[in-house]
Amino acid sequence: MCYPDSLPSRLSGIVAAMITPLYDLDTVRRQIPILGTHIPMNNCSQAPQSDVTRAAADEYLASWAADGMDWDTWIERTEQARSEFAAFIGAEPADVAVATSLSQAVSSVASALFWGGRRNRIVASGAEFPTVGHVWLAQERYGAVVDWVPVRDGAVELDDYQARIDDQTLVVSACRGYYQTGFKQDIPAIAELAHAKGALLFVDAYQTMGSEHFDAPSSGADFVASGNLKFLMGIPGIAFLWVRPEVSGRLEPSITGWFGRANPYAFEADRLDWAEGARRFDLGTPPIMEAYVARAGMAWLRELGLDAIEAWNAELGRRCVEGAVERGLTVLGPHDPARRAPTTAIACDDSHAVEAELHAQRIIGSARGPAIRLAPHFYNTIDDVDRALDATAHAIRGE
Ligand SMILES: Cc1ncc(COP(=O)(O)O)c(C=O)c1O
Repeated sequence: MCYPDSLPSRLSGIVAAMITPLYDLDTVRRQIPILGTHIPMNNCSQAPQSDVTRAAADEYLASWAADGMDWDTWIERTEQARSEFAAFIGAEPADVAVATSLSQAVSSVASALFWGGRRNRIVASGAEFPTVGHVWLAQERYGAVVDWVPVRDGAVELDDYQARIDDQTLVVSACRGYYQTGFKQDIPAIAELAHAKGALLFVDAYQTMGSEHFDAPSSGADFVASGNLKFLMGIPGIAFLWVRPEVSGRLEPSITGWFGRANPYAFEADRLDWAEGARRFDLGTPPIMEAYVARAGMAWLRELGLDAIEAWNAELGRRCVEGAVERGLTVLGPHDPARRAPTTAIACDDSHAVEAELHAQRIIGSARGPAIRLAPHFYNTIDDVDRALDATAHAIRGE
């Protein structure tokens, strides 16, 4: 899979162009219709539609049309999505909650913590997606105090976390992949720092989930959340929250609903009991159609093999960074492949203009603040990356 580092860079591109992933790339590409006309490289924002996920959405629509109502099957499909996410992260279905967005998942977690005691500090990084920061800040009215770990050169350093985590810290918050630069955080190392001081660790893995093999139980995190529409190849409206089983039993989220009850079908409005494990973080009627799509997308990725996908993404990411530098572009964040998620952020003055220019050439990138982001995934080729970089370089230089 990897080509020798000693190869001159002029040759490495040629060799890279010849290597292929462990799965059949042509078969995969035929299952993503938009590849016939476009180069989608915007997985940091929205995954392309595939035949697999389209068929799953159609299955729900057909069931609704033909049967009018088939709650048993629909709920079973939601359970299958829960189980699929659990398998995806090496966990048990009982430790996964089905949410409707990552914002809702982190809100539910925050609502289960007591902020009025001596241990009331939240140590969150400046690399959080804003929604996570907003939810933590909203806890200040209950007594929480948020302390921010700075972003330096597009990355968040362990020393900066360590300097802030103390024995009054209740939660440490980290994101596995930084949406702005593609920096990848070392989660086990932060878990060690958090647990050494008795704090819990919340991880937003939305920008990496589906792009790599990530084992939640052994990561050290206490909570791992992800939405579905980026590297999981799905759609908005569904998200998942894993809660460490040793932790979930002692949490009672005040953001709750009937699906968080021991028996959702008991219909006792005056009785608040708690489902076992992470199910107590479920809320109302689940996002059923989204669960169909989510299950299908995740099952497809698992079938292809997360290790194989991770290895190919590493090649695509390496080519993105090397190719951008070769073209004289400025890549934000660390260049070290070990510290990078698949997203490459290239600095530019007007990222939205660059995104529009790329789109005119049927290349889909994603503008965010001071950068145009290229986020290839398992279906992209090295040639896709090179073509996207050529177009990006032209667009940035206004050629
Ligand atoms: C890392 C990360 N976290 C959270 C979110 C927002 O998630 P949601 O809209 O499901 O609340 C995003 C969306 O882009 C994201 O990239």
